[in-house]
Amino acid sequence: MYATRPLSVSFGAEILDFQLSDAPAGEDIIAIRKLWAEHKLLLFRNQSFDEAALVGFSRKFGDLEIHVREEYLSPEHPEILYVSNIERDGRHIGILSDNEVGWHYDQIYLPKPAVGSLLMADTLPPEGGNTEFADMCAAWDALPEQTKTKLNGCLANQSYEAFNQAYSVPTNNKQKARSPDIHHPIARIHPVTGRKALYLCPGMTTEIVGWDPQESADMLEFLFDWTTRPEFVYSHHWQPGDAVMWDNACTMHRRDPFDPRHERLMKRTTILPPPHRAAPF
Ligand code: OGA
Ligand code: MN
Repeated sequence: MYATRPLSVSFGAEILDFQLSDAPAGEDIIAIRKLWAEHKLLLFRNQSFDEAALVGFSRKFGDLEIHVREEYLSPEHPEILYVSNIERDGRHIGILSDNEVGWHYDQIYLPKPAVGSLLMADTLPPEGGNTEFADMCAAWDALPEQTKTKLNGCLANQSYEAFNQAYSVPTNNKQKARSPDIHHPIARIHPVTGRKALYLCPGMTTEIVGWDPQESADMLEFLFDWTTRPEFVYSHHWQPGDAVMWDNACTMHRRDPFDPRHERLMKRTTILPPPHRAAPF
């Protein structure tokens, strides 16, 4: 129904001639849902929409998560998280500033982790700040059979704390209490496609539960190298008006640093799974 253009050999598609602010509904949303599940990442270029339209469109795909970092939420629309290095009145308006952000799944540390994120470019630096995505279904499929057998049924520990120490600023005590470490299956069954994806990431996964520490560290090192091989990765160079919607159950992402003298503001909504498909998975 919509014309598409592939973004890489493995995954990702640009949806042509589509405006989020036209408030698509019914068949249009069903079509987008299908394309989202098929391609794992959708790019909408040349968008002209405001925060209300971003929230309205995102809601068509599920309930929206209010991020634990309340200090970085949009004042008007708490469903929107600001990702930014901009300072106003002596405080950062958004999270993740201008440094490199390591590979992660959004909210992998929640008991019912988000299944999607929609990120809209509001203000961009002239260069830098590209965002890379990795196809974790393709990465799982290509693993040697004996590695799959070893990993099936295993749990990994996911830590927001580890991510914050490496790439972000500490949470306060209330936020810490809302985001303790958690265990999730390493081979995640996708709630829509039923495909398996490697559900771990260098930024937040600290160990394989119950394994000898050295074996766990060796396996994670192998998997982190494996999942970020060029054939599984799409690197997105942002243009003004871009909105990218990714499948957060089977892709992880990272961001390049950029020159702190330039401002960058991205606005993100986070889509929760339907309750009957939330967890376990
Ligand atoms: C995010 C994120 C990367 C970026 O919004 O979840 O990781 O490009 N953003 O700023
Ligand atoms: Mn993220």
